[in-house]
Amino acid sequence: MPASTSSEEDRTPASTPLRPVVEALEQMTALDSAGKTIGKAVRDRLRPGGFKDAISGTWFGHAVHPPLTDVVIGSFLGASLLDLLGADDKSAQRLLGVGLAAALPTAVTGVNDWADTEIADEAVRRVGLVHASANVSALALYAASLTARRSGSRGRGVALTLAGTTVMTVSGYLGGHMSYVRGVGPNQTAFDPGPGEWTVVGDSATFKDGEPHAAVAEDTPVLLVRHGDGLHAIHNRCSHRGCSLSEGKVEGHTVTCPCHGSRFDVRDGSIIGGPATAPQPAFETREREGKVEIRLSRRG
Ligand code: FES
Repeated sequence: MPASTSSEEDRTPASTPLRPVVEALEQMTALDSAGKTIGKAVRDRLRPGGFKDAISGTWFGHAVHPPLTDVVIGSFLGASLLDLLGADDKSAQRLLGVGLAAALPTAVTGVNDWADTEIADEAVRRVGLVHASANVSALALYAASLTARRSGSRGRGVALTLAGTTVMTVSGYLGGHMSYVRGVGPNQTAFDPGPGEWTVVGDSATFKDGEPHAAVAEDTPVLLVRHGDGLHAIHNRCSHRGCSLSEGKVEGHTVTCPCHGSRFDVRDGSIIGGPATAPQPAFETREREGKVEIRLSRRG
């Protein structure tokens, strides 16, 4: 076997100290039973509707869990820094209190986001479970730290805060892995807006009134629905977690995603109901010589 050249060596993916740990977690099948049970329980309780939309970030334009984690991590990290700088204990206690108060909404939004993802992605299910367990451990350490400080044991409180920050750092790394490596959260159409030029997607005769029709334009999956007011087309990959909208239900101008119940207007891709936070790209349509063509909408 020939020795590898320097250019081949350059292409070897860089490892990181935590990569082997994360990869081991992603393959830990022992976590599956608990992960499936908890995920299903969460989805059963958080049905599509106003509360789920609120914690998913439908009103906000993207997930609300990431900005909430900034409050929690910032508060706890701030308390650790005050300890390191030798600042007064009262300020550290206040920051610990803010972090603990912000932890509940942060946890609820995170568990909701995780439960909507773990159906299709075993690796995310496993890592998410460890991420959540680590967060619970960190919170317990911070709560114990605040209790110790309030009872006058500052040294113990400082040590507990330091332990909490260590656990939280590992947990934060796992959260970043799920978002930036596994792609939990981003708009699933972000890197595939669809064809900018007119592209044939099928024969006109095959598009029936009121029925969802799946097609592919270049590499982009497209949902088309013919109505009395015209032929409507939007991206077929749900912006929420990527399910095919053509497998969902079409009623009037509304299509409901089969996975978590997001509803979109097929005329312009706008969100009618969450948990999706980003609208579907919409396409213009025209029919020429018995063929249907689409292109990315230029209406704005
Ligand atoms: S994939 Fe979740 S609502 Fe469509």
